[in-house]
Amino acid sequence: MTNVISITRTLRKPARRLKRLPKLTAPRLRLNGLCPYYTMFPLQFPFRTLNCAKPGQWVLDPFCGRGTTILAARLRGLPSVGIDSNPVAAAIAASKLAQVRATEVASLAEDILDDRQPGPVPNCPRGDFWTLCYAPETLREICRVRNYLLHSCATRVEVALRGTMLGILHGPLNKGEPTYISNQMPRSYSTKPGPAVRFWKKNDMEPMRVDVLDAVRRRAEFSFADVPPSSLGKIVTGDSRTFDLKKLSARYSWVITSPPYYGMRTYFPDHWLRNWFVGGPANVDYRADEQVSHQSEEQFISDLALVWKRTAEVCVPGAKFVCRFGALPSRTKDPQTLFMRTLAEAGCGWRVTTIRKAETSQKGRRQCDQFGTGNNKPVEEIDVYAVLET
Ligand SMILES: C[S@@+](CC[C@H](N)C(=O)[O-])C[C@H]1O[C@@H](n2cnc3c(N)ncnc32)[C@H](O)[C@@H]1O
Repeated sequence: MTNVISITRTLRKPARRLKRLPKLTAPRLRLNGLCPYYTMFPLQFPFRTLNCAKPGQWVLDPFCGRGTTILAARLRGLPSVGIDSNPVAAAIAASKLAQVRATEVASLAEDILDDRQPGPVPNCPRGDFWTLCYAPETLREICRVRNYLLHSCATRVEVALRGTMLGILHGPLNKGEPTYISNQMPRSYSTKPGPAVRFWKKNDMEPMRVDVLDAVRRRAEFSFADVPPSSLGKIVTGDSRTFDLKKLSARYSWVITSPPYYGMRTYFPDHWLRNWFVGGPANVDYRADEQVSHQSEEQFISDLALVWKRTAEVCVPGAKFVCRFGALPSRTKDPQTLFMRTLAEAGCGWRVTTIRKAETSQKGRRQCDQFGTGNNKPVEEIDVYAVLET
């Protein structure tokens, strides 16, 4: 499935560039935390990398995840393109480009909840995942918004509402007004139905009725309080190995990216509930065919090589390539050796200038930290810098 969302207008004059990144809690940066996603890199990383970018230079992220590179480019006033084969990632990334006010997002939600026909509610016998995850009226409201957005999600406000819904769809219970609309669940990944039901039953947890409109309004007021000036951008839901980048007719000066770490293959199942919201099935989706393959080391290397080759074809001579890469502890592979093999196989002019260890957790959480469980120590992540030679 390929879908291109372009939600920004052409600007008469370039957006004002932000020179230094404010604190991550500053209203200007809250959009960054609209919805969590696995293995996102810290905003400082692409932002700092783009320090010496010139106005008008295009930025590409062929594995854009939740759009951290895209937001960094926007903060720098630069046009960008992001591609991700996970529709959840692409939906979150698209909302990083939206130029909206919180009131617009809340008004759209209100209109939908007032007027629209109810969407199909997942088949839910009492005591199953759906009846324990959401109170009945909350689930009906979620389905109404979902149904609307599945039919129409092209405007900046619709895209922002979808990102907001993904952000509140599940997460921990909190004191005071609820931040999330589900029963107790982690925010960064969706628990699988079996373990979730067992947990709720064991702890005697019934879902609370949460008013979806109130929750949307609160999240929108927080995340869209002070969005950065808009810049040109496109998000593609697609496979970077096959998507024809030439169709977008941009020439890129920067590729800033982070492919799936070697061994990481659960982007779809770990986001199955958010994936349902954006149109996927009402159960865990174990598909991985649109993801860079982990069937074998050779396959993984040639898949990445293909993406590097395709990106080089649409970059200007001298373009910069910056990539954060790692491997899961279970794979006992050296990320640097693996990565160099991907570039060698691509053989397309990316010349490595520097390889350094990714910043440590003191400076910002490393992507791999979350996988360092039990006796498995997280594998070092590396940052690879290369330049395109013709
Ligand atoms: C390490 S994450 C990127 C995270 C991103 N840097 C961020 O800050 O959110 C890697 C991403 O690559 C995506 N991906 C895997 N295979 C892909 C493919 N063939 N084409 C496009 N995206 C793919 C995954 O869905 C995942 O979102």
